[in-house]
Order: sequence, then structure tokens, then C-alpha cells
Amino acid sequence: GKNVGILAMDIYFPPACVQQESLEAFDGASKGKYTIGLGQDCMAFCTELEDVISMSLTVVTSLLEKYQIDPKQIGRLEVGSETVIDKSKSIKTWLMKIFEEYGNTDIEGVDSTNACYGGTAALFNCVNWVESSSWDGRYGLVVCTDSAVYAEGPARPTGGAAAIAMLIGPNAPIAFESKYRGTHMSHVYDFYKPVLASEYPVVDGKLSQTCYLMALDSCYKRYCNKYEKFEGKPFSISDADSFVFHSPYNKLVQKSFSRLYFNDFLRQSSHVDSNAKAKLEPFANLTGDESYQNRDLEKAAQQVSKHFYDEKVQPSTLMPKQVGNMYTASLYAALASVIHNKHDTLGGQRIVMFSYGSGLASSMFSFKLNDGQHPFSLSNIASVLNVAEKLEARHEFQPEKFIETMQLMEHRYGTKDFVTTKDTSLLSPGTFYLTHVDSMYRRFYAKK
Ligand code: ACO
Repeated sequence: GKNVGILAMDIYFPPACVQQESLEAFDGASKGKYTIGLGQDCMAFCTELEDVISMSLTVVTSLLEKYQIDPKQIGRLEVGSETVIDKSKSIKTWLMKIFEEYGNTDIEGVDSTNACYGGTAALFNCVNWVESSSWDGRYGLVVCTDSAVYAEGPARPTGGAAAIAMLIGPNAPIAFESKYRGTHMSHVYDFYKPVLASEYPVVDGKLSQTCYLMALDSCYKRYCNKYEKFEGKPFSISDADSFVFHSPYNKLVQKSFSRLYFNDFLRQSSHVDSNAKAKLEPFANLTGDESYQNRDLEKAAQQVSKHFYDEKVQPSTLMPKQVGNMYTASLYAALASVIHNKHDTLGGQRIVMFSYGSGLASSMFSFKLNDGQHPFSLSNIASVLNVAEKLEARHEFQPEKFIETMQLMEHRYGTKDFVTTKDTSLLSPGTFYLTHVDSMYRRFYAKK
């Protein structure tokens, strides 16, 4: 197939959310720390009724319905997630409930896990399958689903929750530029989940920030080299219309983009103007390590690239700022935000993506966009995503209620023999939810 990529998308996030401004005050953090310091507006979370299985059941059912896809037409289904509900049974097998009903059990693929990178691994697998000789002509389906929760402390406001589904096939409006992939993988302990009795990660926050930026530099260099090899000219940020980053919190995205600009400066790119050159010159001879810690460089690079940020990055930040870190879904929720904000003008444009998962695994890759044809058109994807209405329809919890929910979930994690509340009033029709877990730890879901 040609122009293999994303044909259709849908997103689901829980209706429960907490405002970062009120959480900041409740936590006794200084005013502005979460909203300006981290750059976050609001954070979605799962109540006892929802989890990564229910969210992915909801989003897959919704995608199939809204684009009128026959479930028999799915030949590969890959799930990316780092939220462990079961150490053996994949989330993918849960989703088979949807397809078995239509007599389709002939679906390859299971789950991929490495922190926030699992969704990208799942996406690459599906795209590679469609491009391969084992492709049987049917669609691939990628699901990214996570509930990001942290223990009390500085990382807690960087949580979030969502599930995204993406239909993969040829002649896609969001087509992969498969030749331009740059990857960087390495062994580090920046964020990991060794405590199997807890849903919370162990996290070295500062190290994870530096690892993220180092991985970004490395992937960008490799992406640029591949581009140059095939195009015969150097790549700079002026060659793409949007840059979409994995977004643990918005401040890191701001820093990331200015880091790309600094890379362009170091590579003596002609699009870096003389004013910017003069501002960045004092940092030209820093070692890599020094440059990650240098606050003046950070400030200068952000200042000189600000107008490019507003144009090429800002449209991607809507859902990551409003929903929070969605782990595997975070990067693709940022992509969905671009489609929501710019679907009328994306035809012919290039979007560069940066995926990062602690531990660590990272890749940079790009899409070439075209308007597409109904139902697989950018405008239809934007209307199915229905982002503004979904954000609007949420229910704001007070921080006390959020903390109470976290405590209940901690208590429930890994246990059996419980039923959930009968009050499903916050859920919209069509949403799957957990009803009970029996004495054999088997989980039961219903559809509202
Ligand atoms: N007004 C404005 N800005 C403020 C204020 C204020 N009142 N107070 C603090 N800030 C700024 C700080 O200067 C800092 O900005 P900077 O990075 O530009 O200096 C920012 O707010 C955060 O403050 P810190 O003191 O650095 O925050 P802290 O160390 O308490 O926690 C962290 C931040 C490390 C990101 C934490 O939330 C965390 O560990 N999160 C999880 C790990 C993570 O997301 N890592 C990212 C990559 S890995 C992944 O995706 C999971």
C-alpha cells in the first residue's frame, strides 16, 4: 500500500477532572507552580468506575461506530499501555470482546510496553504490517490507553488519563514518511515501576527531564541525517509546519522546541537569523551536559524561538494541558489537538513527532498530510474527535475529592471481591465502566 498512515482517530478521556489552580493551592505549592511552572491547566483522572480497559473499550467501540467500520475489517490490533492491570493477560484480549461478537477472531497483535513509548511501538508495528508482505488487505488498529497517577508529592500534578484509537491503512490523510525515522534507546533509571503492589512509579524527576532532552537531541540529529540523505538538503525546523512532542507537562514541551532551535543554530542552519545567532552565540561552546543545565541558555533559546513556538507547537498543546500526561496517549492527543485546531489548513503540511518513554525508548518521525476523502478526511476526523465539546462536558472535582479517589484506588489496586458504585451519572451514554471484580480477580464491565 502507498501513503500508509492514520485514516481515522477517536479519543476518550474521563469526565472527572481537577483544576491545576485549585490543586496548587490545596497542596500548598507557590501560586503559579502548576499552571505556569509546569504549564498545566487541568488534569483528568479515572474514578473507581473507569480504568485502561474500560477507556479502550469505549474508544474502540466509538471509532468503529462513528466511521462505520465493519469489525471484520480489522486484521491487526495493537495496544500501547504502561498501566498494569494484569501481568499476563493483554488489554488487547479484552478488546476482542468487541470483535468476537462479529465472528472476527482473526486479529494479530498484543500489547507493547515501555513507559510512554508503547503507543509508538504499537503504531510502528501496525504501519510496518500494512507495508509488509504479510498484510492481508484489512485495517490495522492502534489503541493507546493509560491512567497516569503519582504518589503524593511534586509529580502528582503531572498525572492524567485517556485512551486513543487510530485506524491504520493505505491512502491515509495522515501518511507516514517512513524513511525519516530517528531513534534513540538506552538503559537508564529515570522513571520505572518496580513496586508491583502499587500503581505508582518510582521517579527521578530531574533525571527524567534531562534524559528526555538528551533523547530529543539524539533523535533530531538522526532524523535530520536521514532527511538530508534522501532529500539532498539539510533539515531545519522551517521544513515542518508542526512539531508534536510527548507531553508530560507543557513546560517540557516549551523547552523541547527551543532545544530543536538551538540544534539548528549549532548546525549553522540558514533560517536562524542574525539576532538569534547573537543571543545564542555565548552558548555555542558548552558541552552537551553543561547545555542541559544552563538556565541562561534555556531562557535565550525560548525567547528567540517564541514566534515559531506559537506557530508550530502551540496548536498541539490543547489536550495535553487540559487532560494532563496521558502517557502512551499523550503524543497522539497532541496530534489530535493539531487536527482539531488546524484541520482546514493542514493539507500538504508536514508534522514532526517526538515520542519518549522513560527507561528509555524514543523516536522522531513525521507525517505528510492531505485532506483525504470522507469518512477518512481531516475535517471528519476533527468532527469525530469533537474535542471542544468533550472538554466542555467534564465535571470538575475539588482537590479533596480527587485525593479521596486516589486513596480509594490505592486501596483497590490488585484486590478482588469488590463492586463499584451504582452512580454512573457522570459518564456519557456509550461509556464502558467497571461494575465488579469477583473472587477470581475477574473484571466485569457494562456499557452505559
Ligand atoms: N510560578 C511560576 N513557576 C514556578 C513557580 C511559581 N510559583 N514555582 C516553581 N516554578 C517553576 C520552576 O522554576 C520550574 O520551572 P523550570 O523547570 O523552568 O525551572 C517548574 O515550575 C517546576 O518546578 P520544580 O521545582 O522544578 O518542580 P518539582 O521538582 O517539584 O517537580 C517535576 C517537577 C520534576 C517535573 C515533577 O513533577 C515530576 O517528577 N514529574 C514526573 C516526571 C516527568 O513527568 N518527567 C518528564 C519526562 S518522563 C515522563 O514522561 C513520565
